[in-house]
Amino acid sequence: EKGGYKHFMAKEIAEQPAVLGDALRHYLGETGQITLPGGGIDFTGVSRLTMVACGTAYLACMTAKYWIEQLAGLPVDVDIASEFRYREPPIPEGTLAVFVSQSGETADTLAALRYCTGRAQRIVSVVNVAESSIARESDLALPILAGAEIGVASTKAFTCQLAVLALVALEAARQRGTLDAATLAAHVQDLRSMPGRLNAAMATEATVAETARRLAEAEDVLFLGRGTMYPLALEGALKLKEISYIHAEGYASGELKHGPIALVDKTVPVIVMAPHDRLFDKTVSNMQEVMARGGKVLLITDAKGAAEAGEGVWQTLVLPEAPELFAPILYALPAQLLAYHTAVAKGTDVDQPRNLAKSVTVE
Ligand code: M6R
Repeated sequence: EKGGYKHFMAKEIAEQPAVLGDALRHYLGETGQITLPGGGIDFTGVSRLTMVACGTAYLACMTAKYWIEQLAGLPVDVDIASEFRYREPPIPEGTLAVFVSQSGETADTLAALRYCTGRAQRIVSVVNVAESSIARESDLALPILAGAEIGVASTKAFTCQLAVLALVALEAARQRGTLDAATLAAHVQDLRSMPGRLNAAMATEATVAETARRLAEAEDVLFLGRGTMYPLALEGALKLKEISYIHAEGYASGELKHGPIALVDKTVPVIVMAPHDRLFDKTVSNMQEVMARGGKVLLITDAKGAAEAGEGVWQTLVLPEAPELFAPILYALPAQLLAYHTAVAKGTDVDQPRNLAKSVTVE
């Protein structure tokens, strides 16, 4: 069943270009027109979104917030389901509630959905398991079509969640007229190019595995990112702690000097996720602050970023270029591969990490 791979997680990481391509074809067909099932989402009267999930699915929501706000001009609140359900927040008129869950059975996410039923204008879920409770109890369920995900650490579900959420953002922009037709078509084209870029990025695996062997010696690791790379930094840290048991934290790069820089010394690797985008220079200056304190920086970037990063970087991992908007889909891959190979180097149980269940169906 592992298709020749040592672990389900390795198989599921490697499957991403294919399943992502399938998911995009499902929603875009050959024409590139976004087609959502069940009549789609009507954004008329929608004035805000509230997105709720747990773990990696929550980080997919955090990423989507950047897209939906930027492309469609709709404000988005993102919440952790276990907080949302007991906070019982007001749900203003015109709220579209979106629940993201691979399994569709996460207890807190389901409870949050039930809280929104009758309060929100519409309940949409983004799920991998089409016949799950969360899918059944939503007005509309959007399948991510990742196929069965067995490894406890979520990988292909994350990238497919991102793809479907990107399509929701583009569809909202289309209906609201916040993007002209040519820009919209260009973004769709960019999104369709992501499976190919992910495939090309798989070529970095051997280099990542080498870096991971060194990372395996660390006790603490920091991940930094700005903009959409901020949720990716959180995802990198979550993956690493989950399967390698190394203490890892993700921070928004700009938060560094508000606390976490106190942790930095030569024993703490700092993983900086920074494609060469409009925020690159800012992240480089954060990186220099880390290096000035002896921190070992692993920079994950593209060729332009590598050329402009300057001296003193411990290691650089060069990824293919990606359209700025959808770079998070690509940068998920090195985050997953790093965690995977670090766990393999440490000899932990990659697919069944201690204390964790694939689906958290009790509180
Ligand atoms: O099935 P769900 O997407 O609702 O699960 C949510 C989290 O439990 C899940 O993403 C968890 O954080 C993963 N183990 C992360 O790799």
